[in-house]
Amino acid sequence: MPGPAIELRNVSLAFDAKRVLSNISLALGEGETLFLLGVTGSGKSVLLKVMLGLLKPDEGQVFIEGRDLVPLPDEQLQPLRRRMGIVFQEGALFDSLSVFENVAYRLRDEHLADEAALEGRVREVLRFVEMEAALEKAPAELSGGMRRRVAIARTIISNPSIMLYDSPTGGLDPVTCLTINLLIAKMRDLQHVTSVVVTQRLQDAYELVNFVYSEEKHALVPVDGAASRRPATRFLMLREGEVYFQGNEQEFVHSTDPYVQKFLA
Ligand SMILES: Nc1ncnc2c1ncn2[C@@H]1O[C@H](COP(=O)(O)OP(=O)(O)OP(=O)(O)O)[C@@H](O)[C@H]1O
Ligand SMILES: [Mg+2]
Repeated sequence: MPGPAIELRNVSLAFDAKRVLSNISLALGEGETLFLLGVTGSGKSVLLKVMLGLLKPDEGQVFIEGRDLVPLPDEQLQPLRRRMGIVFQEGALFDSLSVFENVAYRLRDEHLADEAALEGRVREVLRFVEMEAALEKAPAELSGGMRRRVAIARTIISNPSIMLYDSPTGGLDPVTCLTINLLIAKMRDLQHVTSVVVTQRLQDAYELVNFVYSEEKHALVPVDGAASRRPATRFLMLREGEVYFQGNEQEFVHSTDPYVQKFLA
C-alpha cells in the first residue's frame, strides 16, 4: 500500500454520555477509495468530521498525510484542512448566492486567488462538473443532482488531495447517481485524489469498482485490463459506532456474515 493519506488509530468519541465512535482504526493509501457503509445513526458523518478535524476524538489519533491532527490547535489545522474537501450530506449551498459565488467562496474566503484568476478557476471547476452554463443561476433554480454537482465543484476548487463525500447520491435517481459517480471517478482517475464515500447504494460501489473514467470517451468504461493500475477500493461498515466489517471488494462481496449479507441483498 502507498503511504497512508488517512490513518485512524483507536479513535473513540462520545457526545455527553453517548458513545458514537468506538475504537476505530483504519488506513487508506494515497489514491485509494474507501466506501463507508452503515445504517442511519451508525456514525458515518461523525467519522468524516473527525477525519476533517471538525470534531476531535476523545481518544485516538487521526493522521492526515502522516500528521496527527488531534493535538493541533485550530490555526495549524488550516493547512491540513486545505488538503481536504468535504461534500456535506445536505449539499448545503448558500441560497442567497449565485452558483458562481458559491463555487468561488472558498478561494475568496481563504484569499487564495485574485479576481482575475478566480473567474478562470471557477469556470474550470464548473466545466469539470459540467455546470458551466449555470454560472449565474441561483441554487433554487437547480435540480437536486445539479446542486450536488455544484457542491462538488465548490469543494474541488482548492485542489484537495483527499475528498470526503457524505452520501453524494442520496435521494437522487439512478441516472443522476451515475453522473455523480462519474465525477467521483474523474477525481480519482484524473486527479488521483484519495476518496472516502459514504453511501447506502451498493450500486455506487459497483460502478466505482468496475469502471474507470475515460478522458477520451468522456465516460465511465469497464476496468478490464486497467484493473491492476487502479488503486485499491476498501469497504468499511460501521455498526453502532464500531467497525463491524473492514476489507477489500472481494472480501466484502463474498462475506458470509449475515449482517453484511443483509446489506448486500
Ligand atoms: N453534534 C452532535 N451532538 C450529539 N450527537 C450527535 C451529534 N452528531 C451526531 N450525533 C449522534 O451520533 C450518532 C451518529 O450520527 P451520524 O450523523 O454520524 O450518523 P450517520 O451514520 O451519518 O447516519 P445517516 O445515515 O442518517 O446520515 C447519532 O446517534 C447521532 O444522533
Ligand atoms: Mg450521515
